[in-house]
Amino acid sequence: MTLKNLILTVSLTCVAGVVSAADVDVSKLPPAAKKAGVTFDADIKPFFEKSCVKCHSGEKPKAKLRLDTRENTLKGAGDEKILEAGNSAKSELVHVVADLIADEEMPPLDKRDKYPALTKDQIGLLRAWIDQGAK
Ligand code: HEC
Repeated sequence: MTLKNLILTVSLTCVAGVVSAADVDVSKLPPAAKKAGVTFDADIKPFFEKSCVKCHSGEKPKAKLRLDTRENTLKGAGDEKILEAGNSAKSELVHVVADLIADEEMPPLDKRDKYPALTKDQIGLLRAWIDQGAK
């Protein structure tokens, strides 16, 4: 390999690395639950309270994001929406709990002794809730 080719290969690899970090591989997502009529209050809130709400509620929630009610969850982080009703595969909320975004895994990896990671079934329910319109 010539020096020029080497430089080209290295720089292409760097670019590819940046792109794939931003890319989300949704094929790794657990499937949506089959359950009909999924609601925030009945199905999502119980596990959000165990895994998320301590950091994402109150006067100064982390990332300006409150996850204590359906309305606050829909509002998102500051001005930034975290979900797209009807499309869980495109929703950041689902990507972060499935650990698909490096350095933004939720709950944070080093806090999981206190705040358990969501199970595949819980992520499936979250997807079903969003896919069914986030009622
Ligand atoms: C121990 C505290 C803590 C817990 C528990 C926690 N988070 Fe977070 N979360 C943070 C912090 C800090 C940030 C902002 C920094 C970052 O992105 O890493 C954040 C950012 C986020 C974001 C990104 C918001 C944006 O700016 O786009 C989402 C979505 C999110 N959390 C969802 C959740 C969900 C869902 C749970 C529960 C399954 C959860 N978090 C549990 C601390 C926490």
